Amino acid sequence: MRDGKKIATAFAALLAFLALGTGIGVSSTFRGDRALGEYLAAECVTCHQKSGKVVGGVPAIVGWPEDQFIAVMHAYQKGERENPIMRTMAGQFKEDELLALAAYFGSLKAQR
Ligand code: HEC
Repeated sequence: MRDGKKIATAFAALLAFLALGTGIGVSSTFRGDRALGEYLAAECVTCHQKSGKVVGGVPAIVGWPEDQFIAVMHAYQKGERENPIMRTMAGQFKEDELLALAAYFGSLKAQR
């Protein structure tokens, strides 16, 4: 029994540590240049809300994992997703700029 308790305590400590870590380490979990992303995002946030709210039928794009964000942007670039606005939007970016946008939007939290 004593071992079980020790493990539970260690697990609780680990969870507390992780909860703290996510607040501090947000930017380091992304590969892209967040500052560049924020700059490039000026155009996007005329339609997409930084708050993560859906307004005027424009979907929320905050808080996504970087890879998922980039995969979707690639799908617009390749025409696998057909929305003409987003194809034009995605088409203007190079890979490092997509990474930067992914890092920026990924670091934002949806407000409720
Ligand atoms: C003129 C308005 C407008 C602008 C500007 C715009 N978007 Fe969009 N975006 C949309 C709409 C509308 C959709 C939904 C399109 C669809 O159904 O494929 C969308 C979809 C997306 C999606 C997929 C969302 C999902 O849930 O599948 C991503 C990611 C995205 N946009 C990123 C961006 C980024 C990054 C920028 C800036 C470079 C940007 N958008 C600029 C209107 C816009």
